[in-house]
Parts: sequence; structure tokens; C-alpha cells
Amino acid sequence: MQRECPFAHTSKPFDWYAVTREADVAALLKDWDLWTSFSGPGLAHQTGGVLVTVDPPEHLFDRRLINQAFSPAQLLAMEDDITALIGELIDRFVADGQGDLVQLFTVPVPLIVISRLLGLDEDQVTQMRPLADAVIHPNTPPGKIDRPQEDTPQTRYFKQMIDQRRDMHSKGETLPDDVLTTLVTAELDGRRLNDVEVMGFMGFLYIAGSQTTTQLIGNLIYRLLQHPEQLDLLINDWSLLPNAVEESLRFDSPVNGLFRTNTRETEVHGVTIPEDTKVICMFGAANIDPQFWGEDAGEFNIRRNPQLTKRHYAFGKGIHYCMGAPLARLEARVAVKAIFERLPNLRLTGEPKEIAAHVMHGVDSLPVAWDIA
Ligand code: HEM
Repeated sequence: MQRECPFAHTSKPFDWYAVTREADVAALLKDWDLWTSFSGPGLAHQTGGVLVTVDPPEHLFDRRLINQAFSPAQLLAMEDDITALIGELIDRFVADGQGDLVQLFTVPVPLIVISRLLGLDEDQVTQMRPLADAVIHPNTPPGKIDRPQEDTPQTRYFKQMIDQRRDMHSKGETLPDDVLTTLVTAELDGRRLNDVEVMGFMGFLYIAGSQTTTQLIGNLIYRLLQHPEQLDLLINDWSLLPNAVEESLRFDSPVNGLFRTNTRETEVHGVTIPEDTKVICMFGAANIDPQFWGEDAGEFNIRRNPQLTKRHYAFGKGIHYCMGAPLARLEARVAVKAIFERLPNLRLTGEPKEIAAHVMHGVDSLPVAWDIA
């Protein structure tokens, strides 16, 4: 597609276009006025959401609000907590000698971390996971996406938590220091969020912060097991770890691509498209475009030039750049180091399954064995 069909079109079962070249993905993400997010980052025309579903000036309001809820420094301050919880999780299965690392490890780590950040109960959040999966389900038809307003176990639980916080706030009680408290109490430009808005932010952060990071951790462990020479390099020099995380994000972008919609008729590579056409920016393809990365773009190499590696598109680019990137990177670093240090001679015992949701890319199972002391 990059070489021969840089502006690809499909009409069945739904109508949309795709850009795959790095230069095109960069151009679309930069021109947010033409290529807007007003109908959401998915194929569905989804309006009324937050952050990834709005354009400036509303978008700036949303980002300022999230900046109040957590800053990069606050996310990085979670390191000790994350290290401890990852240690405890591994304690639970280390004596088994084998298992599926997705179920045992890569799913629970981000779920527990995001629960703590948001101020939610870990067990409740874990039970809600199938619902979050449904949002990115491969066969979810456009227009059928669960909305925060709908009555689901997730919205009922969020509503109950919001009511509880509002009640505590009105009684002058001390509120926990977490994202939920910020959202419930924040006052920005003289305005407070209503319950539907708080639920919108909570629902988005819960999904944005869990499945994506699950994919990152799983992808990196899998590639290292597949490339023992790269794993040896890493184990002998852990200073390569940050770049290994970036290379994983580049080579195995957890989010394959997201959509934009044009506000007026426009032309791309000689093709004229009408206003309101869905065009997907393929981050995963841009990340392995040889025109940008060079001829070895298709190789997994944790010693790739770090200045170049970090220019990947896994976290998007421009005004919607991922606000959880420091946390995702931190979780991946701590998780991958702990797994290889605690599970000696870790090896694959079968072929991993690829996750079915097509906007996501990663492993849905990771069958492994390790030596028991
Ligand atoms: C490896 C893990 C992650 C990946 C690959 C990822 C990917 C992305 C991408 C591609 C976008 C851009 C959306 C767009 O352009 O339409 C984005 C936005 C966002 N992400 Fe992440 N994300 C990850 C983890 C997280 C985490 C852990 C959090 C929260 C703690 C988070 C919060 C956000 C937020 C708030 C935005 C919206 C920014 C905006 O619209 O201005 N993400 N993410």
C-alpha cells in the first residue's frame, strides 16, 4: 500500500480511506482544522465524547482538565507503587513454572495501575474488563459503540462512585487524592463537570490506559523471546531498556491506526473526497515506512538510534498526543525487567494468538514456561 496505493479506499462493508506513508500520517495529524476529531477516532461517527472526540477550543479545556488530574511528574511518581504491585503479582504465579502471561500478567498490571490512578476499586475494574474489550471488538458496527450515558454495569459503578465523592465533598470530608476527586471537584473557566462528563473522562481513561498498555507489555516480552540475541543484549545491559520500549512501540504499535474526518472536500494523492469522509491514519504502517526509517525499518532492533526510534507514531502526534505516554513507558519498563529477572530461562511453549480487534495490535495469549528454583 505504501508503494502502490498510498490513499487506499474500501467501501465494503463500510466506506473509508487509509493513509500509510509516514509523511501522509504526519500531514493529516498536523492539520487538525481540516482533519478533525469531531466524529471520533473510530470508524463510527461518534460525537459528544471527550479529548479524542473534540477539536479546539473544547479540546484545550479537556487537556487542561486532565493536566490538573495528573501531570507527567505525578505519573512517574507512581514507580515505587507499580514496582511493588508487579512484584506481588509475580509472587502469585512464580512457583507454577508455566502459564499464559497475558492472563497472569499483561492484563492485570495496567488494570490495577489505572484503577489506582483513577480511584476505582481494583476488583470492580477487573470484572468490567470484558465490557471495555467490547468497545474495540472487531465486529462492532459503526454507530453501535457503548456510550457513557448508556445503562451498563460500568456506568452504574462510575455513577455510584461519583455520587459517593460528591456526598463526601458536600459534607466537607477529606477526599482521596486521585483523578476521580479532581474531576468531581475541578472548576475550570468558572465551570464544573456534570456526571455525564465525569463518566466520559473516567470511561475514556479506563480504556485508553489499560488495553493499550497490555499490548505494549505483551508485545515487548514476545519480541524479546522471539529474538534471543536482542534479549541477551538487554539482560547484559539494562540501560538499553528505555530504547527497547520505544522500539517495541515503533515495531509493534499497540494502536494500529485511528480515524480523522475532513471538514471540507479535499484531494489526497489525486483523489477527491467529499466532506465528512473517514480516513484512517495508520500509525503501525508509518512506524515501518522505509522512506522514513531506512531499509531496516522491518527489523526489531533495540539498539536503533534512540533519537530516531522515539519519533514513532504509537502515541499519535500533534494536539491529541497521548497524555498517558510517561505512565505506559514506566509500566512497560518495570514489568519487562521484573519478568525476565524473576522467571529464569523464560521461553515460549506455543504460538501466541493475535488480538482480534483490528485497530489494536498485540498478543492475546502468550504461552510460556520458566525454570523453578
Ligand atoms: C502503550 C500504551 C498507550 C498507547 C499505545 C496509547 C496511544 C494513544 C494514541 C495513539 C492517542 C492519540 C489519539 C488520537 O490521535 O486521536 C492517545 C491519546 C490519549 N491517551 Fe494514550 N495510549 C497509551 C496509554 C495511555 C495511558 C496509560 C493513558 C492514561 C493514563 C492514556 C491517556 C490518553 C489520553 C488522555 C489521550 C487523549 C489526548 C487528546 O485527545 O488530546 N494513554 N493515546
